[in-house]
Amino acid sequence: MAELNLILLGPPGAGKGTQAARLTEDFGLPHIATGDILRAAVKAQTDLGREAKRYMDAGELVPDTVITGVILDRIAQDDARDGFLLDGFPRTVEQADSLGAAIERTGRRLTGALLISAPDDVVVRRIIGRRIDPRTGEVYHVDFDPPADASVELVQRDDDSEATVRKRLAVYHQQTEPLISYYDERGLLRRFDGTQAPDDVHAHIRAAISTLQREDEL
Ligand code: AP5
Repeated sequence: MAELNLILLGPPGAGKGTQAARLTEDFGLPHIATGDILRAAVKAQTDLGREAKRYMDAGELVPDTVITGVILDRIAQDDARDGFLLDGFPRTVEQADSLGAAIERTGRRLTGALLISAPDDVVVRRIIGRRIDPRTGEVYHVDFDPPADASVELVQRDDDSEATVRKRLAVYHQQTEPLISYYDERGLLRRFDGTQAPDDVHAHIRAAISTLQREDEL
């Protein structure tokens, strides 16, 4: 079966992580989320974490030189041999160029770039209400998706304050949005309406990936 090398694109709070959790189960792909990798590095106080923290807390992107090598090494690991689902990378044209060159060097190719869109006011509301179960990593929302057990103690991400979210959105529009035409011009972009219910977004993306998979096998 052909490799499924996929990228998830979209603003903070569009639902990339929510959908990635479902899609990795559907297609058996490793979910490679740069934000999760960086937060784990911050927690473990590694050199990468110490370098990344000040950018993350300010809602800015960590420099390309800090993140790109980490992700290129990650997609070369054994569990990503049959494909991967990248969430949060690439985020700049430079990162996209580095990814494209690395993939080509190893004789692989990208299968698709999946864009989940949602307007700024929707994503701000989602992010301010996002809460995480620190024991399981499960993501909830205080209004849209509260935990069934109300006694579970949830935490909020350090960068989920309203001011930081607005900064992250501005960075997205300026530095990441150009990737939409970048991948569209290469025939790789597929668009999804992230304002729909999570199950509906999931059904649309799953169907699109199945189509990409079939096209790749022809
Ligand atoms: P990262 O962790 O990647 O954050 P992000 O892109 O801002 O995305 P989020 O995780 O906030 O949103 P999401 O789309 O995954 O939404 P979710 O599914 O959780 O990056 C953090 C930082 O790391 C960056 O700011 C930067 O500093 C650094 N960084 C990361 N990658 C980098 C890179 N490549 N280069 C440089 N720096 C980098 O959903 C959000 C909420 O909405 C949840 O509560 C969920 O329950 C709810 N929800 C989801 N879908 C729906 C729906 N359909 N309807 C209703 N509610 C929904």
